[in-house]
Amino acid sequence: MVESSAILVAGATGQQGGAVARNLLKRGFRVRALTRNPGQVSELKKAGMEVALGNLTDRPSLDEALYGIKRFFLVTTPFEKGMETEVQQGVTAVKAATAAGVEHLVYTSVASVDRATGIPHFETKWKVEQHIRKSGVPATILRPVFFMENFGSSWLLPSIRNGTLALPVHPNRPLQMIALNDIGEVAATAFANPRDYLGQVLELAGDEKTLPDTLKLLSKRIGKPILYEQMPDERSEKMFGKEIATMFRWFNNVGYDVDIASLRRRYGIVLTRFEDLIAGASWVESLK
Ligand SMILES: NC(=O)c1ccc[n+]([C@@H]2O[C@H](COP(=O)([O-])OP(=O)(O)OC[C@H]3O[C@@H](n4cnc5c(N)ncnc54)[C@H](OP(=O)(O)O)[C@@H]3O)[C@@H](O)[C@H]2O)c1
Repeated sequence: MVESSAILVAGATGQQGGAVARNLLKRGFRVRALTRNPGQVSELKKAGMEVALGNLTDRPSLDEALYGIKRFFLVTTPFEKGMETEVQQGVTAVKAATAAGVEHLVYTSVASVDRATGIPHFETKWKVEQHIRKSGVPATILRPVFFMENFGSSWLLPSIRNGTLALPVHPNRPLQMIALNDIGEVAATAFANPRDYLGQVLELAGDEKTLPDTLKLLSKRIGKPILYEQMPDERSEKMFGKEIATMFRWFNNVGYDVDIASLRRRYGIVLTRFEDLIAGASWVESLK
């Protein structure tokens, strides 16, 4: 019975949940997408998903969304309503999952959350992780690093299009990155192989490059120069806000340390390199 039941995917209209849903559908799983937005329903259904209208901070709507569900992909975010809301999303979802008897929760957190980073949106995910452990719900925790697709997002793409990207990261500092599809693939693999993945925490990175090297690859691909400038810390705070500036400072002083080689070896995961990602991404084509 459990095999044929749907997997509830939070964030299915977003980056990580979207990648998870696509990978689950590709493998023949039934997907129930969780969204707050009735305007998304027909698009999600067209993609082959069932839809549950619900909110991660609204327990009754989650109880309904979780009806008959044994597997649940969870993503939380502070970027709409702040840090406390992210914790509230996680805690509410985990309580609802426990009450519903969920047998496999896959939560996507962020790499290095357990290293006392002092970065507010890492600390929130650490709280959610701890809540998961305390709850006893059987779980796999994924901890992705910086998304490769950030370069194609509305906060970085306009500068790249203008030919100069300025970020606070030191030009000699390697930055670990992961492709969204790899997160989706690992989550789908975890659901397909619970015995190997239950109780596991996987830090996920697929590549590691300095920002000037990353931009050189992009530049070569589009046939136009893209320069890199290190932005001073004071400007970073004004531009991105205190929380994101704290993260960039941590990237410079500490940084992610995922063992990419052992991830490939241990789980047999094919991880995307930045050059592979940009070979086919539509946002890259839009730069030409
Ligand atoms: N960017 C990076 O490099 C990076 C790296 C590691 C971790 N992260 C973390 O990734 C998280 C964001 O993930 P993402 O980029 O995949 O998300 P996203 O594309 O920003 O989309 C957010 C998703 O969350 C859903 N959502 C938001 N609030 C909700 C609520 N109260 N109830 C139900 N659904 C809700 C939205 O669904 P609806 O609007 O349809 O309801 C949407 O699908 C953040 O916590 C960030 O810290 C980011």
